Amino acid sequence: MGWFVVLLYLIHSLLLFHFPSYTFSLCNPHDLSALLLFNNSFTVNNTIVDHYHPWYYHCPTNVSSKIVSWNKNTDCCKWDGVTCDTMSGHVIGLDLSCSMLQGQFHPNITLFHLTHLQQLNLTLNFFYGDIPSSISHLSKLISLDLSFNYGGIDPYSDELGMAMRLDPSTWKKLIFNASDIREIFLGGINMSSINESSLSLLLNLSSSLVSLSLPGTGLQGNLPSRILYLPNLQQLTLSGNVNLRGQLPKSNCSSKVFGSL
Ligand SMILES: *[C@@H]1O[C@H](CO)[C@@H](O)[C@H](O)[C@H]1NC(C)=O
Ligand SMILES: *[C@@H]1O[C@H](CO)[C@@H](O)[C@H](O)[C@H]1NC(C)=O
Ligand SMILES: *[C@@H]1O[C@H](CO)[C@@H](O)[C@H](O)[C@H]1NC(C)=O
Ligand SMILES: *[C@@H]1O[C@H](CO)[C@@H](O)[C@H](O)[C@H]1NC(C)=O
Ligand SMILES: *[C@@H]1O[C@H](CO)[C@@H](O)[C@H](O)[C@H]1NC(C)=O
Ligand SMILES: *[C@@H]1O[C@H](CO)[C@@H](O)[C@H](O)[C@H]1NC(C)=O
Ligand SMILES: *[C@@H]1O[C@H](CO)[C@@H](O)[C@H](O)[C@H]1NC(C)=O
Ligand SMILES: *[C@@H]1O[C@H](CO)[C@@H](O)[C@H](O)[C@H]1NC(C)=O
Ligand SMILES: *[C@@H]1O[C@H](CO)[C@@H](O)[C@H](O)[C@H]1NC(C)=O
Ligand SMILES: *[C@@H]1O[C@H](CO)[C@@H](O)[C@H](O)[C@H]1NC(C)=O
Repeated sequence: MGWFVVLLYLIHSLLLFHFPSYTFSLCNPHDLSALLLFNNSFTVNNTIVDHYHPWYYHCPTNVSSKIVSWNKNTDCCKWDGVTCDTMSGHVIGLDLSCSMLQGQFHPNITLFHLTHLQQLNLTLNFFYGDIPSSISHLSKLISLDLSFNYGGIDPYSDELGMAMRLDPSTWKKLIFNASDIREIFLGGINMSSINESSLSLLLNLSSSLVSLSLPGTGLQGNLPSRILYLPNLQQLTLSGNVNLRGQLPKSNCSSKVFGSL
């Protein structure tokens, strides 16, 4: 009987004190302020969608900016595009793909204060500028997609230099810190200063890397062929890099790597 009472008490206290923390996932205050400052650092530009890049077919046809649903007075974990850890309330996923966001990535960008992020997708917006080295603070990243941001300039026009840019030291820090990353999508980002030895750093990700997509990045020189043999690599896209040279493995169609080279 005594045990029964103890059991009842335990169940009672579990329901009272523990259950609520599972049902509420309130946004972590630090992450909330980083999101708000990030939101204030760019604008929504819906005047240029129609002139946009062919890759836009990846976006829904009724494209609209997810941030219009962002409201200071609601839990940020419920904002469109935001995913939180249900226990800690830390933001672990941010998908603002196809959201018509325009602005420069400043060195002080608060986006990279979200150090619990595992998934970040900003593809097909109109961001521009150098990718700040603080992106390497995102040490828990599993999936990164920054592809096809040209600031709103037609990428086929003569006005060059608006694409986002990634320099070798930022690349190195990112690979060093985000060592569990599985998906890297950086199509259209200016990576022309990343040389063969910088690309070889990808070999450090041999146990994690599954997808690598770097089309139209201005890569030049030789592709380190050992990248093609990374044990978990399943998707590799390197199209549109006219100055990149490399030797495909003497494949007999049993290669597990698919993609366009
Ligand atoms: C990013 O979002 C786009 C559009 O929703 C989607 O096509 C793409 O697969 C996403 N990238 C990753 C790495 O999941
Ligand atoms: C876009 O269309 C899809 C499917 O019809 C719908 O689920 C989604 O809510 C729509 N999004 C917006 C922003 O209207
Ligand atoms: C986020 O930015 C948009 C566009 O600039 C603005 O309309 C909205 O009020 C902002 N939301 C918050 C919560 O600051
Ligand atoms: C970041 O720096 C830019 C220019 O240096 C400035 O305009 C902006 O207000 C700063 N943003 C924050 C969040 O400090
Ligand atoms: C690596 O990530 C940790 C945790 O976010 C951070 O404290 C550290 O500064 C990062 N290192 C580099 C080189 O960015
Ligand atoms: C939208 O982007 C285009 C191209 O960068 C620019 O010319 C235009 O002024 C922007 N419009 C708004 C409302 O910011
Ligand atoms: C890419 O960046 C380099 C500097 O790193 C610059 O010289 C070049 O013009 C840029 N290319 C494009 C297409 O913007
Ligand atoms: C790559 O791996 C080597 C050997 O384990 C290590 O010394 C180096 O710091 C790593 N570099 C990066 C960028 O992760
Ligand atoms: C490749 O780039 C790295 C980093 O910028 C630099 O240290 C190295 O000297 C370059 N190697 C060659 C062969 O240009
Ligand atoms: C095809 O490639 C696999 C693995 O690379 C190898 O084991 C096999 O012997 C090859 N077959 C032929 C016919 O070359």
